[in-house]
Amino acid sequence: MTRCLLFISLLIHATLAAKGGKKAEEGSTKKWMTLNGAEPVVIARGGFSGLFPESSGFANKMGIATSLPNTILFCNLQLSKDGVGICQTDIRLDNSTTIAMFYPKGQTTYKVNGQNIKGWFAMDYTAEQLLSNVSLTQNVFSRPNMFDGLLPMSTVEDVTGIKPPRFWLNVQYDTFYKEHKLSMQGYIESTMKFGAINYISSPEIGFLKSMSGKAGRAAKTKLVFEFQDPNVVEPTTNKTYSEILKNLNTIKSFASGILVPKNYIWPVNNKTKYLDPPTTLVADAHKLGLEVYASGFMNDMPASYNYSYDPSAEYLQFIDNSQFAVDGFLTDFPPTASEAISCFALNKNTKPTKGKALIITNNGASGVYPGSTDLAYQQAINDGADVIDCSVQMSKDGVAFCLDTPDLIGKTNAMTTFMSRSTTVPEIQPKNGIFSFDLSWSEIQTLKPEMLSPFGGDGFPRNPAAKNQGRFVTLDGFLELAKSKGVSGILIDIENAGYLASKKGLDIVDSVTKALNNATFDKQSTQQVLIQSDDSSVLSEFSYVKTYKRVLRLEKEVSNAPKKPLDEIKKHANAVVVSRRSIVTDKEGFTLAYTNVVKELHSSNISVYVSVLRNEFITFAFDYFSDPILEIATYVAGAGVDGIITQFPATATRYMRSPCSDMNADLPYPILPAEPGGLLSLVPEEVQPPATAPAPALAVADILDPPLPPVADVSTSSNPPSASGPPGAPAGSKPSNGIANFADIGLSLASIMALCLMSAGC
Ligand SMILES: *[C@@H]1O[C@H](CO)[C@@H](O)[C@H](O)[C@H]1NC(C)=O
Ligand SMILES: *[C@@H]1O[C@H](CO)[C@@H](O)[C@H](O)[C@H]1NC(C)=O
Ligand SMILES: *[C@@H]1O[C@H](CO)[C@@H](O)[C@H](O)[C@H]1NC(C)=O
Ligand SMILES: *[C@@H]1O[C@H](CO)[C@@H](O)[C@H](O)[C@H]1NC(C)=O
Ligand SMILES: *[C@@H]1O[C@H](CO)[C@@H](O)[C@H](O)[C@H]1NC(C)=O
Ligand SMILES: *[C@@H]1O[C@H](CO)[C@@H](O)[C@H](O)[C@H]1NC(C)=O
Ligand SMILES: *[C@@H]1O[C@H](CO)[C@@H](O)[C@H](O)[C@H]1NC(C)=O
Repeated sequence: MTRCLLFISLLIHATLAAKGGKKAEEGSTKKWMTLNGAEPVVIARGGFSGLFPESSGFANKMGIATSLPNTILFCNLQLSKDGVGICQTDIRLDNSTTIAMFYPKGQTTYKVNGQNIKGWFAMDYTAEQLLSNVSLTQNVFSRPNMFDGLLPMSTVEDVTGIKPPRFWLNVQYDTFYKEHKLSMQGYIESTMKFGAINYISSPEIGFLKSMSGKAGRAAKTKLVFEFQDPNVVEPTTNKTYSEILKNLNTIKSFASGILVPKNYIWPVNNKTKYLDPPTTLVADAHKLGLEVYASGFMNDMPASYNYSYDPSAEYLQFIDNSQFAVDGFLTDFPPTASEAISCFALNKNTKPTKGKALIITNNGASGVYPGSTDLAYQQAINDGADVIDCSVQMSKDGVAFCLDTPDLIGKTNAMTTFMSRSTTVPEIQPKNGIFSFDLSWSEIQTLKPEMLSPFGGDGFPRNPAAKNQGRFVTLDGFLELAKSKGVSGILIDIENAGYLASKKGLDIVDSVTKALNNATFDKQSTQQVLIQSDDSSVLSEFSYVKTYKRVLRLEKEVSNAPKKPLDEIKKHANAVVVSRRSIVTDKEGFTLAYTNVVKELHSSNISVYVSVLRNEFITFAFDYFSDPILEIATYVAGAGVDGIITQFPATATRYMRSPCSDMNADLPYPILPAEPGGLLSLVPEEVQPPATAPAPALAVADILDPPLPPVADVSTSSNPPSASGPPGAPAGSKPSNGIANFADIGLSLASIMALCLMSAGC
């Protein structure tokens, strides 16, 4: 417990420190479209149940500490045999507690609202039995289980005892408990004081009707009718919830608001997983004077592709559209709801991002459209990226174009038509590939882009409707787009220059130089040009244009950067790109600490960009609350990087433009960076993950590269490359490695399929 208090006091401390700075400028004058024009409220289901076991002391205290000041703690009421109220969502305790361990024979079956339900029921045990030995566990696999078996269940009094700003009691099974001679109403009247309860909700009309006189009289407790799934039958009227929905006006007689699953408002098409148009429910309910609270929000349960795995985008959909705003969110992740309400909604995102970290894309907005396509670049520009990037690849006939890697497998449908051109090039990658430098530009142009999940297989698909959309662009085309759209910067990445020169007779450095010159990027300083490579020799080739910023890509994870390698870097580059782990170390899903890498690089005047940031929650340590915004805040405001390289520029822009990214502003809800190691310090010794060796220090050898080899003349080979030839010339030329079949290249179809799948995992 002392640990918990320590961590929470840290957080609160940080919150207070963030206040008292300069006043934030007034937000926009736009009004909320809630029932009364008030700011939507955050209702924390079981506290911060996205992180800690539901309704545990940790969850409740953290829910308050990390959320808006008026956050409401939400408790689902169950009763023990002796009539003590405890907070747990499910009427069965087996998945969320260790009860089965202590009462192995305690499983029973009861008919609950007409359904047979099997499990361990709170009402079969006394409070003493439930509270003395049984402890809570996390029943959602994506959430930390390190706190399992540690924390007792909370009684309702435990929760009100911590004096939450406001308290919401949900009574889900009144009819069932009544059948077993336990009275929810009696419990509330005799044990609880209405004054401590700001809201009482229930999916049972009979219960709410019986409470309505009393709650209104005793205090200002609001009664809220909870809708369940449309086909479920409401036990006291025998009507389905969808039928009840048709008569919203009857609800007004016994409740002041409704709590509805979020799909009631923004339905998600169950086939495509895209959003359908919204229903009129919020407007209809508001017309009747009913408040509308939406439920079912959680960061670690992807909702619809429209949100691009950004949970704040989902909240905004419910409060920041032109038609309505819900009056509150019932959520497992109250900090994310707080952030959306307080920092992003109502056109608060108007601050210029100047002076903060650069938003640099990774193959354009490759989280939304296939990477390096015209669509991905257009989206990146629309999404407010500061710098759009082109990783330059060469076709066999010397056309420079943008693509993440020279291997076309996994980024295109090359496997379907150019399987016979697949080869192994150990200088480039250990696995087999179909390489751009073996295909002519006109051949490459016949390929369809392919957007696969970076996490492999069918998990976490990105915008599937656009899976094969867009066209690849030449470097010239990319530069032209950047010019015409007035993007503030471009990043040109050059890899494998030595291999291309010596083995393929392709001069990628020259191609890039000419393209930049042709587009007059060498003669202007309004649009920042960043030249990036993992090869310091390549960077040195560009030192002749003083306005170019040279960026060294450090592939290796490092733990610190001593003086010698820093001096070496300075000879070649003004900035480096490092991995996320080189800045914030982590272990088994928990952050550990900041390294000194940013500080050390800054002391040598070298800028630091972190790569690569994504939105999908599975890439985050638990400390980031499954919220991409918190990871960005940690690198930008916490570690002080000069730029972030992201596949989702819209999310980064939302943060950078928000007043809440200013840690010195006086705001009700500053977005605070995670405190590396803070969450792990709450984990008991016994279950702490074992210590691991730190990454090595950066070494001079990591930076030094041999000089670039001369460009070989490979025109004596069977198929001469026409490095100076016009794009799209020699189509139909014979593949250089002959008509390979699977056997020739030593691969079975199965292993090729496996390669295909694996390449998606990179
Ligand atoms: C408990 O978990 C199992 C497996 O994850 C699931 O099938 C079951 O429905 C869950 N029961 C409850 C009470 O949540
Ligand atoms: C809790 O566990 C202790 C030791 O295992 C046991 O003595 C005690 O009876 C248990 N309490 C209850 C209420 O089951
Ligand atoms: C609802 O149905 C149950 C059984 O189907 C019946 O016992 C009960 O009286 C019905 N209640 C109402 C309000 O119709
Ligand atoms: C999908 O939605 C349709 C129409 O809303 C519905 O009829 C169908 O049962 C739903 N299917 C699933 C699997 O939920
Ligand atoms: C969701 O995305 C789909 C596909 O891009 C689009 O057609 C639809 O209009 C979007 N819905 C909303 C509400 O933005
Ligand atoms: C120069 O750039 C233009 C587009 O800006 C392009 O059409 C042209 O082909 C380029 N010329 C060379 C020699 O690269
Ligand atoms: C860093 O750069 C600034 C401005 O370019 C310069 O004034 C300063 O002396 C440099 N510091 C070091 C340590 O090189």
